[in-house]
Amino acid sequence: MMRLIETIQEMRAFVTAARAAGKTIALVPTMGALHDGHLSLMRQAKAQCDIVIASVFVNPTQFGPNEDLQCYPRDLAGDSEKASRVGVDVIFHPTVAEMYPNGYASFVSVEKITDKLCGLSRPGHFRGVATVVSKLFNIVQPDKAFFGQKDAQQVLVIQQMIRDLDFNVQLEMVPIVREEDGLAMSSRNRYLSAQERSAALVLSQSLSLAQQLVREGERDIAKIRTAVVKRIAEQPLANIDYVEIYNYPELEPVSTLSTQALVALAVRFGSTRLIDNAILEAY
Ligand code: PAJ
Repeated sequence: MMRLIETIQEMRAFVTAARAAGKTIALVPTMGALHDGHLSLMRQAKAQCDIVIASVFVNPTQFGPNEDLQCYPRDLAGDSEKASRVGVDVIFHPTVAEMYPNGYASFVSVEKITDKLCGLSRPGHFRGVATVVSKLFNIVQPDKAFFGQKDAQQVLVIQQMIRDLDFNVQLEMVPIVREEDGLAMSSRNRYLSAQERSAALVLSQSLSLAQQLVREGERDIAKIRTAVVKRIAEQPLANIDYVEIYNYPELEPVSTLSTQALVALAVRFGSTRLIDNAILEAY
Protein backbone atom coordinates (compact mmCIF):
# COMPACT_ATOMS: atom_id res chain seq x y z
CA MET A 1 0.00 0.00 0.00
CA MET A 2 1.29 3.39 -1.00
CA ARG A 3 1.38 5.96 1.80
CA LEU A 4 0.53 9.64 1.63
CA ILE A 5 2.66 11.75 3.97
CA GLU A 6 1.98 15.44 4.47
CA THR A 7 4.34 16.55 7.24
CA ILE A 8 8.13 16.83 7.42
CA GLN A 9 8.12 15.14 10.83
CA GLU A 10 6.26 12.07 9.54
CA MET A 11 8.46 11.95 6.43
CA ARG A 12 11.59 11.95 8.61
CA ALA A 13 10.19 9.17 10.81
CA PHE A 14 9.42 7.03 7.75
CA VAL A 15 12.90 7.54 6.31
CA THR A 16 14.60 6.77 9.63
CA ALA A 17 12.71 3.47 9.89
CA ALA A 18 13.45 2.54 6.27
CA ARG A 19 17.16 3.25 6.78
CA ALA A 20 17.21 1.20 9.99
CA ALA A 21 15.75 -1.67 7.97
CA GLY A 22 18.67 -1.34 5.52
CA LYS A 23 16.64 -0.02 2.60
CA THR A 24 18.01 2.24 -0.12
CA ILE A 25 15.91 5.31 -0.83
CA ALA A 26 15.09 7.10 -4.10
CA LEU A 27 13.56 10.56 -4.34
CA VAL A 28 11.57 11.73 -7.38
CA PRO A 29 10.69 15.42 -6.99
CA THR A 30 7.60 16.55 -8.98
CA MET A 31 4.94 19.22 -9.01
CA GLY A 32 2.24 16.64 -9.73
CA ALA A 33 -0.22 16.44 -12.65
CA LEU A 34 1.75 13.29 -13.37
CA HIS A 35 2.22 12.01 -16.92
CA ASP A 36 4.33 9.26 -18.47
CA GLY A 37 7.47 11.44 -18.23
CA HIS A 38 7.17 11.58 -14.45
CA LEU A 39 6.24 7.89 -14.31
CA SER A 40 9.36 7.01 -16.25
CA LEU A 41 11.47 8.62 -13.48
CA MET A 42 9.54 6.63 -10.88
CA ARG A 43 10.04 3.34 -12.76
CA GLN A 44 13.78 4.02 -13.02
CA ALA A 45 13.85 4.85 -9.32
CA LYS A 46 12.07 1.61 -8.41
CA ALA A 47 14.51 -0.37 -10.56
CA GLN A 48 17.47 1.11 -8.68
CA CYS A 49 16.32 1.54 -5.07
CA ASP A 50 14.22 -0.35 -2.51
CA ILE A 51 11.97 2.56 -1.52
CA VAL A 52 10.68 5.27 -3.85
CA ILE A 53 9.48 8.57 -2.41
CA ALA A 54 7.82 10.89 -4.93
CA SER A 55 7.18 14.44 -3.82
CA VAL A 56 4.16 16.27 -5.22
CA PHE A 57 4.52 19.94 -4.36
CA VAL A 58 3.70 22.95 -6.53
CA ASN A 59 6.61 25.04 -5.32
CA PRO A 60 5.60 28.72 -5.18
CA THR A 61 9.17 30.04 -4.91
CA GLN A 62 10.08 28.90 -8.42
CA PHE A 63 7.21 30.73 -10.16
CA GLY A 64 7.58 34.34 -11.31
CA PRO A 65 4.89 36.93 -10.48
CA ASN A 66 3.31 36.64 -13.94
CA GLU A 67 3.54 32.88 -14.23
CA ASP A 68 0.96 30.11 -13.87
CA LEU A 69 1.27 29.26 -10.13
CA GLN A 70 -2.44 29.79 -9.42
CA CYS A 71 -3.71 27.72 -12.35
CA TYR A 72 -0.95 25.08 -12.32
CA PRO A 73 -2.83 21.74 -12.62
CA ARG A 74 -3.41 19.87 -9.34
CA ASP A 75 -4.81 16.31 -9.15
CA LEU A 76 -3.62 14.45 -6.07
CA ALA A 77 -6.14 11.61 -6.47
CA GLY A 78 -5.08 10.93 -10.06
CA ASP A 79 -1.41 11.32 -9.16
CA SER A 80 -1.72 8.83 -6.28
CA GLU A 81 -3.30 6.21 -8.51
CA LYS A 82 -0.64 6.59 -11.23
CA ALA A 83 2.26 6.64 -8.78
CA SER A 84 1.03 3.57 -6.92
CA ARG A 85 0.77 1.64 -10.21
CA VAL A 86 4.50 2.14 -10.90
CA GLY A 87 5.57 1.06 -7.42
CA VAL A 88 5.97 4.37 -5.59
CA ASP A 89 6.01 3.69 -1.83
CA VAL A 90 5.30 7.18 -0.52
CA ILE A 91 3.88 10.38 -1.92
CA PHE A 92 5.21 13.32 0.06
CA HIS A 93 2.66 16.11 -0.31
CA PRO A 94 3.39 18.93 2.12
CA THR A 95 1.40 22.16 2.27
CA VAL A 96 3.03 25.45 1.34
CA ALA A 97 2.95 26.45 5.05
CA GLU A 98 4.74 23.21 5.97
CA MET A 99 7.59 23.96 3.55
CA TYR A 100 7.64 27.74 3.91
CA PRO A 101 6.26 28.66 7.35
CA ASN A 102 5.80 32.29 8.36
CA GLY A 103 9.19 33.90 8.76
CA TYR A 104 10.87 31.66 6.19
CA ALA A 105 14.01 33.47 4.94
CA SER A 106 16.63 31.09 3.49
CA PHE A 107 17.30 30.46 -0.20
CA VAL A 108 19.85 28.54 -2.23
CA SER A 109 21.30 30.35 -5.21
CA VAL A 110 23.42 28.50 -7.77
CA GLU A 111 25.44 30.95 -9.82
CA LYS A 112 26.92 31.01 -13.33
CA ILE A 113 25.11 28.08 -14.92
CA THR A 114 21.84 29.88 -14.11
CA ASP A 115 22.75 33.07 -16.00
CA LYS A 116 21.41 31.77 -19.34
CA LEU A 117 18.46 29.92 -20.92
CA CYS A 118 15.58 29.55 -18.41
CA GLY A 119 17.68 31.33 -15.78
CA LEU A 120 17.56 34.45 -17.96
CA SER A 121 13.98 34.24 -19.12
CA ARG A 122 12.61 33.20 -15.69
CA PRO A 123 14.45 35.34 -13.10
CA GLY A 124 14.50 33.66 -9.68
CA HIS A 125 13.22 30.35 -11.06
CA PHE A 126 16.31 28.29 -10.31
CA ARG A 127 16.70 29.91 -6.88
CA GLY A 128 13.27 28.51 -6.05
CA VAL A 129 14.10 25.12 -7.56
CA ALA A 130 17.46 24.84 -5.75
CA THR A 131 15.84 25.89 -2.48
CA VAL A 132 13.00 23.37 -2.59
CA VAL A 133 15.24 20.54 -3.84
CA SER A 134 17.71 21.26 -0.99
CA LYS A 135 14.88 21.05 1.48
CA LEU A 136 13.66 17.78 -0.05
CA PHE A 137 17.21 16.34 0.05
CA ASN A 138 17.50 17.30 3.72
CA ILE A 139 14.08 15.89 4.61
CA VAL A 140 14.36 12.60 2.68
CA GLN A 141 18.16 12.11 2.58
CA PRO A 142 17.86 9.90 -0.49
CA ASP A 143 20.62 7.71 -1.89
CA LYS A 144 19.57 8.68 -5.40
CA ALA A 145 17.43 11.45 -6.85
CA PHE A 146 15.83 11.23 -10.31
CA PHE A 147 15.41 14.15 -12.69
CA GLY A 148 14.33 14.33 -16.34
CA GLN A 149 16.43 15.55 -19.26
CA LYS A 150 13.28 17.47 -20.26
CA ASP A 151 14.63 20.15 -17.89
CA ALA A 152 18.27 19.76 -18.90
CA GLN A 153 19.45 23.01 -17.30
CA GLN A 154 17.65 22.08 -14.06
CA VAL A 155 19.64 18.82 -13.96
CA LEU A 156 22.90 20.75 -14.34
CA VAL A 157 21.88 23.27 -11.66
CA ILE A 158 21.06 20.49 -9.17
CA GLN A 159 24.25 18.64 -10.09
CA GLN A 160 26.28 21.82 -9.39
CA MET A 161 24.44 22.33 -6.09
CA ILE A 162 25.08 18.73 -5.00
CA ARG A 163 28.80 19.16 -5.71
CA ASP A 164 29.12 22.61 -4.16
CA LEU A 165 27.08 21.98 -1.00
CA ASP A 166 28.24 18.38 -0.42
CA PHE A 167 24.83 16.75 -0.61
CA ASN A 168 25.31 13.03 -0.21
CA VAL A 169 23.06 12.01 -3.07
CA GLN A 170 23.58 10.62 -6.56
CA LEU A 171 21.65 12.35 -9.33
CA GLU A 172 20.26 10.19 -12.14
CA MET A 173 19.10 11.81 -15.37
CA VAL A 174 16.27 10.08 -17.25
CA PRO A 175 15.66 10.62 -21.02
CA ILE A 176 12.80 12.79 -22.32
CA VAL A 177 9.52 10.91 -22.76
CA ARG A 178 7.54 12.07 -25.81
CA GLU A 179 4.04 11.66 -27.18
CA GLU A 180 3.86 9.41 -30.24
CA ASP A 181 4.02 12.42 -32.56
CA GLY A 182 7.16 13.77 -30.84
CA LEU A 183 5.80 16.44 -28.46
CA ALA A 184 7.70 16.20 -25.16
CA MET A 185 5.29 15.34 -22.36
CA SER A 186 4.60 18.25 -20.02
CA SER A 187 1.97 19.15 -17.46
CA ARG A 188 1.56 22.39 -19.43
CA ASN A 189 0.58 20.67 -22.71
CA ARG A 190 -3.01 20.62 -21.47
CA TYR A 191 -3.14 24.42 -21.81
CA LEU A 192 -2.70 24.15 -25.61
CA SER A 193 -5.63 24.61 -28.00
CA ALA A 194 -5.93 22.00 -30.75
CA GLN A 195 -4.24 24.38 -33.20
CA GLU A 196 -1.42 25.20 -30.77
CA ARG A 197 -1.00 21.50 -29.96
CA SER A 198 -0.29 20.70 -33.58
CA ALA A 199 1.87 23.81 -34.04
CA ALA A 200 3.97 22.70 -31.04
CA LEU A 201 5.24 19.74 -33.05
CA VAL A 202 7.70 22.21 -34.57
CA LEU A 203 9.78 21.88 -31.37
CA SER A 204 10.69 18.22 -31.72
CA GLN A 205 10.85 18.59 -35.50
CA SER A 206 13.40 21.39 -35.27
CA LEU A 207 15.48 19.33 -32.82
CA SER A 208 15.38 16.39 -35.24
CA LEU A 209 16.54 18.76 -37.98
CA ALA A 210 19.53 19.79 -35.83
CA GLN A 211 20.40 16.13 -35.22
CA GLN A 212 20.06 15.36 -38.92
CA LEU A 213 22.41 18.22 -39.83
CA VAL A 214 24.99 16.85 -37.39
CA ARG A 215 24.61 13.35 -38.84
CA GLU A 216 25.22 14.83 -42.28
CA GLY A 217 28.49 16.28 -41.01
CA GLU A 218 27.58 19.88 -40.09
CA ARG A 219 29.74 21.10 -37.18
CA ASP A 220 29.14 24.87 -37.45
CA ILE A 221 27.01 25.73 -34.39
CA ALA A 222 25.81 29.06 -35.83
CA LYS A 223 24.56 27.31 -38.97
CA ILE A 224 22.76 24.63 -36.96
CA ARG A 225 21.18 27.29 -34.73
CA THR A 226 20.06 29.36 -37.72
CA ALA A 227 18.42 26.30 -39.30
CA VAL A 228 16.54 25.54 -36.06
CA VAL A 229 15.37 29.17 -35.67
CA LYS A 230 14.23 29.24 -39.31
CA ARG A 231 12.28 25.99 -38.94
CA ILE A 232 10.47 27.28 -35.83
CA ALA A 233 9.83 30.73 -37.34
CA GLU A 234 8.01 29.07 -40.24
CA GLN A 235 5.28 28.14 -37.76
CA PRO A 236 3.10 31.25 -37.35
CA LEU A 237 1.73 30.23 -33.90
CA ALA A 238 5.24 29.86 -32.48
CA ASN A 239 6.86 32.77 -30.60
CA ILE A 240 10.50 32.08 -29.81
CA ASP A 241 11.65 32.88 -26.27
CA TYR A 242 15.13 31.42 -26.86
CA VAL A 243 16.91 28.99 -29.15
CA GLU A 244 20.46 28.39 -27.97
CA ILE A 245 23.21 25.87 -28.42
CA TYR A 246 25.88 25.52 -25.73
CA ASN A 247 28.54 22.94 -25.13
CA TYR A 248 27.41 20.19 -22.77
CA PRO A 249 27.53 19.81 -19.83
CA GLU A 250 29.40 23.11 -19.23
CA LEU A 251 26.76 25.27 -20.98
CA GLU A 252 29.40 27.58 -22.39
CA PRO A 253 29.28 29.22 -25.83
CA VAL A 254 30.79 27.10 -28.57
CA SER A 255 31.31 27.73 -32.27
CA THR A 256 32.21 24.26 -33.52
CA LEU A 257 30.66 20.99 -32.36
CA SER A 258 33.46 18.75 -31.17
CA THR A 259 31.95 16.44 -28.55
CA GLN A 260 28.55 17.24 -27.07
CA ALA A 261 26.31 20.30 -27.27
CA LEU A 262 22.84 21.06 -25.94
CA VAL A 263 20.23 22.59 -28.24
CA ALA A 264 17.71 24.18 -25.89
CA LEU A 265 14.40 25.72 -26.96
CA ALA A 266 11.77 27.77 -25.18
CA VAL A 267 8.84 28.76 -27.37
CA ARG A 268 5.43 30.25 -26.64
CA PHE A 269 2.23 29.02 -28.24
CA GLY A 270 -0.40 31.54 -27.21
CA SER A 271 0.21 32.04 -23.49
CA THR A 272 1.79 28.60 -23.03
CA ARG A 273 5.56 28.45 -22.85
CA LEU A 274 7.04 25.08 -23.77
CA ILE A 275 10.65 23.90 -23.52
CA ASP A 276 12.44 21.07 -25.27
CA ASN A 277 16.04 20.09 -25.93
CA ALA A 278 18.37 17.58 -27.47
CA ILE A 279 22.00 16.68 -26.92
CA LEU A 280 23.98 16.80 -30.16
CA GLU A 281 26.89 14.39 -30.38
CA ALA A 282 29.75 14.46 -32.85
CA TYR A 283 31.92 11.39 -33.09
P1 PAJ B 1 7.93 18.90 -12.81
O1 PAJ B 1 7.82 19.85 -13.94
O2 PAJ B 1 6.69 18.29 -12.23
O3 PAJ B 1 8.88 17.73 -13.28
C1 PAJ B 1 9.28 16.75 -12.36
C2 PAJ B 1 10.38 15.92 -13.01
O4 PAJ B 1 9.84 15.24 -14.14
C3 PAJ B 1 11.55 16.79 -13.51
O5 PAJ B 1 12.77 16.15 -13.19
C4 PAJ B 1 11.30 16.82 -15.00
O6 PAJ B 1 12.48 17.00 -15.76
C5 PAJ B 1 10.70 15.45 -15.24
N1 PAJ B 1 9.94 15.43 -16.49
C6 PAJ B 1 8.91 16.26 -16.85
N2 PAJ B 1 8.49 15.97 -18.10
C7 PAJ B 1 9.29 14.95 -18.55
C8 PAJ B 1 9.37 14.21 -19.77
N3 PAJ B 1 8.56 14.46 -20.79
N4 PAJ B 1 10.30 13.25 -19.87
C9 PAJ B 1 11.14 13.00 -18.83
N5 PAJ B 1 11.11 13.64 -17.66
C10 PAJ B 1 10.20 14.61 -17.52
O7 PAJ B 1 10.73 19.95 -12.54
C11 PAJ B 1 9.94 20.17 -11.63
O8 PAJ B 1 8.69 19.60 -11.57
C12 PAJ B 1 10.28 21.06 -10.45
O9 PAJ B 1 11.16 22.08 -10.87
C13 PAJ B 1 10.88 20.30 -9.25
C14 PAJ B 1 12.22 19.63 -9.61
C15 PAJ B 1 9.89 19.25 -8.73
C16 PAJ B 1 11.17 21.29 -8.10
O10 PAJ B 1 10.01 21.92 -7.69
